[in-house]
Amino acid sequence: MATRWFEAVAVAQRRAQRRLPKSVYAALVAGSERGATMDDNVRAFAELGFAPRVADQPANRELATTLMGQSLSFPVVISPTGVQAVHPDGEVAVARAAASRGVVVGLSSFSSKPVEEVVAANPNTFFQVYWSGGRDAIEARIARARAAGCVGMIATLDWCFATARDWGSPFIPERIDLHAVLRLAPEVLSRPGWLWSYLRTRALPDLTVPNMARLGEPAPTFFGAYGEWMQTPPPTWDDVAWMVTTWGGPFMLKGVVRVDDAKRALDTGVTAISVSNHGGNNLDGTPATIRALPAVAAAVGSQVDVVLDGGVRRGSDVVKALALGAKAVMVGRAPLWGLAANGQTGVENVLDILRSGVDSTLRAIGRSSVQELSGEDVVVPAGFARRLG
Ligand SMILES: Cc1cc2nc3c(=O)[nH]c(=O)nc-3n(C[C@H](O)[C@H](O)[C@H](O)COP(=O)(O)O)c2cc1C
Repeated sequence: MATRWFEAVAVAQRRAQRRLPKSVYAALVAGSERGATMDDNVRAFAELGFAPRVADQPANRELATTLMGQSLSFPVVISPTGVQAVHPDGEVAVARAAASRGVVVGLSSFSSKPVEEVVAANPNTFFQVYWSGGRDAIEARIARARAAGCVGMIATLDWCFATARDWGSPFIPERIDLHAVLRLAPEVLSRPGWLWSYLRTRALPDLTVPNMARLGEPAPTFFGAYGEWMQTPPPTWDDVAWMVTTWGGPFMLKGVVRVDDAKRALDTGVTAISVSNHGGNNLDGTPATIRALPAVAAAVGSQVDVVLDGGVRRGSDVVKALALGAKAVMVGRAPLWGLAANGQTGVENVLDILRSGVDSTLRAIGRSSVQELSGEDVVVPAGFARRLG
């Protein structure tokens, strides 16, 4: 039964796999090429260790922090993910879960729900844009996010459209027409729980991306918007500075792994950077983000908020990232597994697992707050870190 509480993100993932049609599950796994980066993101966390204490541990631990001027009840933000058809409530359920646990939600511009609905569910929303369509189109998206009440902007720039996978890519239709229904019927009919979750809302999965349109205009299809993005020439650093100024508020550049890029980003006026490789969905062969984090944090961590995303599956991973210089982490797949497994409650379940994992790790290593964490708290094997650029 997918309605029960689960004790680990790995359990949520197994439930998601059992509940979702094969193609929908594969779209969440994503990854690219041989999957080396996706795997290294997770494996690298396992290479790091702790040296726990047995006495004199703090009775109470402070988990709260701030990021880009927003309060977080613990140092986790939901990373923007453009996946649809996981659950009928989609990003609104994720936003509600984040609000109920006191954390910020990142909303992808390729999301299935309008930004206005998501902000209504969680006023602490960061809107994410890609460099797609050029300045006029991006300015309109930024203006819409501002009007909706978003409190931060994320620009994700690490994408090279190389998404072939050795294990094969799922079939994702342009729209749910007869051809798509016939092709997907066998796998959908074998997942009656997921099918029923849609049938009872009297709606089929909507494969459009409303936030890529101006308010009031019809939403383009995912592939229509993707085509526009593919045809847009890549941004320059001037374009990044333009986005920062156009938004005029807290701004995160997501996808930075090189020290020279991190330093260059400072000149554009960003408030935060996320050391990110898009969860291993972009250029395969990029090292795990946790390996690249220490050098980036040492270079710019005193001037901007440094966030890490990629491979975080447990509270102890959050502590490891903070010890190596991150102020907070973002989680992509973990909340998606929770959403697939059990809707809003499943996402809350994931956040509770991460939160209690942070708390128990702090207790074990004898730290009374997330702010106290430093490199001394983790055992880092020789040759672990990678300085890029
Ligand atoms: C299925 C999927 C869709 C994603 N879509 C987006 C997106 O639309 N925008 C974005 O900035 N990042 C996107 N990401 C990347 C995440 O924001 C995040 O960087 C990554 O998932 C972190 O790694 P993790 O999944 O191991 O936590 C996506 C990731 C996945 C797995």
